[in-house]
Amino acid sequence: MRQLLEHAAQRSISYLENISSRQVAPTAQAVAELALLDEALPEGPTEPEITLGMLDDLCSPATMATAGPRFFGFVIGGSLPIALAANWLAGAWDQNSALYNVTPATAHLELLALRWLLGLFRFPEECAGAFVTGATMANFSALAAARNSVLRRADWNVEADGLIGAPPVTVVVGAEAHPTLIKSLGLLGLGRSRVIKVPVDSQGRMRADNLPSLTTPAIVCLQAGNVNTGSFDPISEICQAAHASGAWVHVDGAFGLWAAGVPSLAHLTTGIEDADSWATDFHKWLNVPYDSGLALVRDPDALRAAMAVTAEYLPTSSPFRNPSDYTPELSRRARGVEVWAALRSLGRKGLVDLVERTCRHARRLAEGLRSAGYHVLNDVVLNQVLVAFGEADTTLRVVSDIQKDGTCWCGPTVWQGQTAMRISVSSWATKEDDVERSLDSILRIARQGRQP
Ligand SMILES: Cc1ncc(COP(=O)(O)O)c(C=O)c1O
Repeated sequence: MRQLLEHAAQRSISYLENISSRQVAPTAQAVAELALLDEALPEGPTEPEITLGMLDDLCSPATMATAGPRFFGFVIGGSLPIALAANWLAGAWDQNSALYNVTPATAHLELLALRWLLGLFRFPEECAGAFVTGATMANFSALAAARNSVLRRADWNVEADGLIGAPPVTVVVGAEAHPTLIKSLGLLGLGRSRVIKVPVDSQGRMRADNLPSLTTPAIVCLQAGNVNTGSFDPISEICQAAHASGAWVHVDGAFGLWAAGVPSLAHLTTGIEDADSWATDFHKWLNVPYDSGLALVRDPDALRAAMAVTAEYLPTSSPFRNPSDYTPELSRRARGVEVWAALRSLGRKGLVDLVERTCRHARRLAEGLRSAGYHVLNDVVLNQVLVAFGEADTTLRVVSDIQKDGTCWCGPTVWQGQTAMRISVSSWATKEDDVERSLDSILRIARQGRQP
């Protein structure tokens, strides 16, 4: 066992040490060679070293270098070395982190991380938290609590009686809500299409003056950090109006919620602490390994009622916090270990520096693109940059050539009808030099197709 695990660690370390010098996307040949894995299930056992070798030799070259410093696609962070180290140790522990009495160490770490985060975001300390796979499930969990609460106030027990015959729930979202939020609403039986979509401005921010008048039961979903522009809904204004109508306010802050803990960015999230629930990711900006996200709910009873395995109307009474009383799953991996380790190691200042540094890199990329004459479509308020290199086909050609070149990796998008390239700087590993190298390659490629 020792040798196998040491070899796994050595191979992982070599992978990470070489990640900066390889091209970001895997080569076509590396992807094609995955076919060498296609075989029938072996009849008998194979030496574990051979299996490990196959994984590393065939699969490592076919990975996307998202753990490296120049992957700017989607909103994907890398893994802080301490978060990866904690992940390795937690893997060795193999705790089923559902019940405190069975896995006290991991349940305790989760609770500590939760307390720190509530303090960091300046949210009420009684808020409940669910450590889940990511923002999709965090939205789902928080909205399950919202569904419980708004229907309970209408004398309807949704966990016991379902939605058939229930009072209709009005759900309001911004027109640029993330598609996974809409999916979560669908999973909860609240419907993907029956939501009311509030028009947005050029940055994707909900227009507060277009908020419909609400009758309860109602849930209003705000966004902190649009996946394309990084913009924030006018949280304070909408929250006040929604609460005045008795609605539940939920905030999808998959990455934008972290701005609430950063003094120089906190103006973007003004009023966010007044919401009823929030969702965020750890695997994005906190840079812990996949998969990891968090739902926070002001009223712990609402989340427990939606999630506890025991009678939904009779939450478990235990002197300890059982993680699974708050999550969709019963059996679950101990995500809190890596979160605790990342926060413990970074400290408040380290976290602020990580967020501010990536935002600074995004601003530098935007400035370099703008001064070369390209159209930056968004106000770069956070870590997202949208750039168009001309007509749609030109922009798509540039994006494709950037991906092939391999210095960095960016993806395409369509923002309010205009085809653009998205740059998202989310990794702890990105340094100034990576930004300059990436900018040089993007500009070189973009200029290749330009008319003299
Ligand atoms: C605003 C927003 N909400 C939700 C999600 C979904 O997050 P996840 O993929 O972690 O479930 C994303 C992903 O980028 C996002 O940007």
